[in-house]
Amino acid sequence: MSISRRTILKYSSLGGAAVATAGLPRFAIGGTAKIKVGVMLPFTGTYAALGEQGINGLKLALAGQGNKLGGREVEIVTLDDESDPSRAPANATKLIKGDNVDLLYGTVHSGVVMGMVKVARETETLLVIPNAGAAAATGAMCAPNIFRTSFSNWQPAFPMGKVAYDKGYRTAVTMTWKYGAGTESVDAFKEAFEAAGGKVVKEILVPFPDVEFQANLADIANTKADVVYVFFAGGGAVKFVKDYASAGLRKTIPLVGAGFLTEGTLAAQGEAAEGLLTTLHYADGLDLPANRKFRAEYKKAYGKEADLYGVQAYDAGMLLVTGFGAVKGDTAAKADLYSAMGRTVLDSPRGAISFSAAHNPVQDIYLREVRKGENVVVGIAGKAVTDPARGCKMGA
Ligand code: PHB
Repeated sequence: MSISRRTILKYSSLGGAAVATAGLPRFAIGGTAKIKVGVMLPFTGTYAALGEQGINGLKLALAGQGNKLGGREVEIVTLDDESDPSRAPANATKLIKGDNVDLLYGTVHSGVVMGMVKVARETETLLVIPNAGAAAATGAMCAPNIFRTSFSNWQPAFPMGKVAYDKGYRTAVTMTWKYGAGTESVDAFKEAFEAAGGKVVKEILVPFPDVEFQANLADIANTKADVVYVFFAGGGAVKFVKDYASAGLRKTIPLVGAGFLTEGTLAAQGEAAEGLLTTLHYADGLDLPANRKFRAEYKKAYGKEADLYGVQAYDAGMLLVTGFGAVKGDTAAKADLYSAMGRTVLDSPRGAISFSAAHNPVQDIYLREVRKGENVVVGIAGKAVTDPARGCKMGA
């Protein structure tokens, strides 16, 4: 797949027409105006810590460029999306029409990002996604103007299916919040676990962002399955891991998950998280120059340790730096901007990443084990894992 020629021509001709009508040298006005970035992130609720890393990482990348993109000053407008999908289209529209932002950046929650995707497509506004893994964003709803620097929900979950089977587990229970990220994550685990010969015997869904897990933990105890796979993140992940340990289940049924379960949460989870196996495209301790540099800079700037969510945000900033650098800050040069972004290879703190034709990262998935309060890399669960991008017609 590649971005269709027709789409590129459409964008080029729009840019050309605007220049001709204005009768000005290309990009005479834009050169002095600021580039406005409209940020939607959860600054409150169960994903608040993820939102904080999501803005910090972006600002860190921009600070490294003197707060400029392609030579133009950057202005950031932020909005707390509260992980509320119902308000997402109105929030994204407000940023574009009310605040006149040049591009959208966000968010954490898969349901909210789908509202942003809809508005970005309708208004042909650039959208860069620093976390939310909704399959459709780089699948059925993929578009030349939509990029993701994080993952699809499938990516970290699928490799765990084989890992679990190879550890000798044959029956599994899955549990998650009932919304896109949760269901896509457990479906991907199930896809790989059952393809290997295992069987998912029970699938438990709880409303987002509920953290009343007791009744479900009692159900899990009764199933006598070999393993439990979950997707939880942020505040909900802290609560789930502690409840699982308190219920005494750690001794009877091993718990595994997509790495969000133990990401940015270990200090709060303490002893309850020791020994947990997860799969993710990052680990704090990765011994790579880019990771050491990023973590030191993040700590210096914010007085806190970075985690995956900061990495993905930093990479989103660096993707913008490369793209706008290539077009010298010309927001009207859409075809050139998107093609430069699509070709970018980032020296990410997680290891090098490139972008698939659907604009989702191609990346290694690490197997991690919590040891002494740290996610330690114990193997590679998947090499250069590419999301299947089901339904993406871009460039077909
Ligand atoms: C999502 O909703 O896509 C999501 C949220 C938090 C995570 C991962 C994915 O940690």
